[in-house]
This record gives sequence, structure tokens and C-alpha cells, in this order.
Amino acid sequence: MSHDIECQGSCPPHDAQATHEDEHDASPSSNSRRRFLQSAAAAATVGAAPYAKAQTQTPSAPQPVARTTVPPRAVKLNINGRDYTLQLEPRVTLLDALREYAGLTGTKKGCDRGQCGACTVLSNGRRINSCLTLAVMHEGEAITTVEGLASNGMLNPVQRAFIEQDAFQCGYCTPGQICSATALLTEFDAGTASTVTADVRRRPPQLTDEEIRERMSGNICRCGAYVNIVAAVQSAHRGTVGDGTSYTYSTFVIKTTDVA
Ligand code: FES
Ligand code: FES
Repeated sequence: MSHDIECQGSCPPHDAQATHEDEHDASPSSNSRRRFLQSAAAAATVGAAPYAKAQTQTPSAPQPVARTTVPPRAVKLNINGRDYTLQLEPRVTLLDALREYAGLTGTKKGCDRGQCGACTVLSNGRRINSCLTLAVMHEGEAITTVEGLASNGMLNPVQRAFIEQDAFQCGYCTPGQICSATALLTEFDAGTASTVTADVRRRPPQLTDEEIRERMSGNICRCGAYVNIVAAVQSAHRGTVGDGTSYTYSTFVIKTTDVA
């Protein structure tokens, strides 16, 4: 709002014409405008203060993360019929305990997060992903790895079937596949149903290829040897596997456990 009153020099120094005019304008609208400008200026000052402070502060050095270590303790495991006492931190997985502490590298580490099945071993006869479980949780249990399936130098039927059916290429997934298939046959003989069993209230009448594929679905083979793997499991189930006299135990060991 403009006005005709001239400043007589009693006003504080100013240079904005609008401000000068407001100081002489006593109307209600001018008063509310002045209050608005004053509060806005105050708010801007408060808001800018932390920023200005931050500009002048030197960033402090990151604080070191406090690491708490848990001392290793003795963990007793029976692996492949032999007693081991391993000094393990509680966070060591069963897979790492087998490979890094017991020196049994037949069990493979693929994904290390329960997705590929390469680390499958048997715990008290039950197949598990050893990368998903801690070694201390299995204290006193009987662990079977691929190195423990043969007895007296004689491969078990699943191992022999894998050789006869040429059920692997690179061999990396094979120890897990064989442990899994070995447990699968036991589970089937015990009458365990799967998600493709037509009537889960009854014992599955036969181990079809569909049943095998479903029951082995946790074991991935990146070489794509699935057709021959199913044939090998079927052969072991039907008892049509040879006695293995045409090859030696080392044939299998070289093919499936030399990939550390
Ligand atoms: S390494 Fe355990 S599931 Fe892949
Ligand atoms: S044989 Fe190579 S990943 Fe299965």
C-alpha cells in the first residue's frame, strides 16, 4: 500500500521501499503482513542455524565397530563312523566344519544359502543342507558325507548307479545328489509321501520318475544331467545296478571328490 507521508529521518536505516512504506502504515492488514514477515524471518534463521553449524564442523572419524568374539569350544561329531572333536566357534556352519575343520571336502559349497543342494549330507540318516545349519546344533549326531557312503571299499548302489548311468559331467553337484538320492530311497521305503503322491494317506505304490524328480528337486545340476540322474536313482531303486567290479572305488573318488 502506498502513502504520501514522507520520512523525516527518524526511521531506522532501510533500503526497501516496501518496508519503509509498511513502517508508516498502521492499517490492520499492514500489521498482519509485518508480523508474517517477522515470523518468516525468524523461522528462516532457526532453520539455517544447524546447516551453518554443520558447515563449520569437521566430520568426526567413524567409530570402530566393537567386535565381540566368542571363543571356540569343543564340538563332538561322529562323521562317517569316526569321532571328531572340533574346536569351533558357535557360528560355524556344519558345511564349513566338515570342509575346513574336518578336512572332508567331498561335500561341496555351491550357493551357501540353501538353494542348490550341493552341500547335502545325512544327519542321523536324514538329508539336510549343511550350509543352513550350525555345527554345534548337531553335537553328538551321526553325520554321513559322500566319503562315508562306501563300505569296505565298495561303493553303495547309488554311487555305482551314477557311474553306470553317466549321471554327472563336472561332478560338482554329484556328492549332494548322491547323498540326497540315498536318503530318498530310505524315505520312499519308509512310505513317505511327496507333493506329487496322488493319495498321501497311502503308501506311494511305486517310485515313478515324477516322484524322483520331485524328491530330488532341491538338488540343482548346472550341467543339466537330470535325465541320467533320474535313471541312476531308478536303477538303484530297482536293484538293477551292477556290482561295480568293472571299476574301482578310486574311479568314483576321482570323478566326484577331486573338485575341492
Ligand atoms: S551350498 Fe548349501 S544349498 Fe547350496
Ligand atoms: S554334474 Fe555339473 S553341476 Fe551337476
